[in-house]
Amino acid sequence: MLTVLTSGKGAPGVTTVALSFALAWPTPVLLVEADPAGGTIRHGYGQGADLLGRSVLGWHVAARRVGAREAIWANAVRLQGECWLVPGVDAPAQAASIDCAALAATLTGIGVDVLVDAGRIPGPAGIGPLVAVADKIVVVLRSTLASVHAAQAAANHIADLAGSASVGAIGVEADSLVSVVVGAGRPYPLSDVRAAMTHAAPLAGEVAWDPATAAALSDGGPAPRRFDATALMRSASRLAGVLASRGKEQGSPVKTAGSQPGSRRDERAEDVDHRLRHRATPSQEPATVGGAR
Ligand SMILES: Nc1ncnc2c1ncn2[C@@H]1O[C@H](COP(=O)(O)OP(=O)(O)OP(=O)(O)O)[C@@H](O)[C@H]1O
Ligand SMILES: [Mg+2]
Repeated sequence: MLTVLTSGKGAPGVTTVALSFALAWPTPVLLVEADPAGGTIRHGYGQGADLLGRSVLGWHVAARRVGAREAIWANAVRLQGECWLVPGVDAPAQAASIDCAALAATLTGIGVDVLVDAGRIPGPAGIGPLVAVADKIVVVLRSTLASVHAAQAAANHIADLAGSASVGAIGVEADSLVSVVVGAGRPYPLSDVRAAMTHAAPLAGEVAWDPATAAALSDGGPAPRRFDATALMRSASRLAGVLASRGKEQGSPVKTAGSQPGSRRDERAEDVDHRLRHRATPSQEPATVGGAR
């Protein structure tokens, strides 16, 4: 299952939400920073860790040599357990060289659930191909009037993208375009945001307002004690569970491949894990990031 996270104007918290979802995702998951404005997790949550060039750009370069799928795992770093990250490009200029259609095609068959941080929409680079293959698109917003308005516009843009010839007439199925509000009640209550988003991208739920935990995720600040029990992580875990299970109900390339017990999906996940473990060389040890916790 592939889930794209995006936003309209402002910085409502897409990267923070994407990272919290990844850390709380109930099954093996790969987070890909495809924000054309550049990745931030390495310098934030990763506290500037040297990832030896592993990134979406590294994927682009390596794909020609070793194949697109292999190149994804060669550019992934482990965040924890069965949760990996392909960091974003260092600078917006590098994003122009990333073939979004090739990235989308690669990620659909990767064998684990995928979360994509696509940055703001409409953005400088077309995320159309990623939208086209997404099982779910999540528009992140705050509870301000400006943010709700921007989210409505972003959702309408996504619906247009989905209907446009350039990405094929994929349509956006009911339930696949949803929204998530960061910090309801600041100032508008959840019920108002829900009502405002009903026709654009129905609200899937709320990520709690929690500046300390958010700072650990977005800036690499000190992690609150009992990190998983913080308001932000508990709300993220709830939503991640809902989104992951909805994907399974709806079906996806990954799900179809792995719907049987002892399925290919499990085998693939194990295979990925196995390959990552056994690929690790001393020079690749910094591949685990998350020093904030
Ligand atoms: N749940 C939250 N509670 C409090 N602050 C939050 C929360 N989520 C995010 N923030 C804060 O909001 C700011 C923006 O977050 P983030 O970088 O994730 O936004 P973004 O939408 O990815 O921005 P951009 O479009 O620039 O990539 C950060 O300072 C982050 O700590
Ligand atoms: Mg971001």
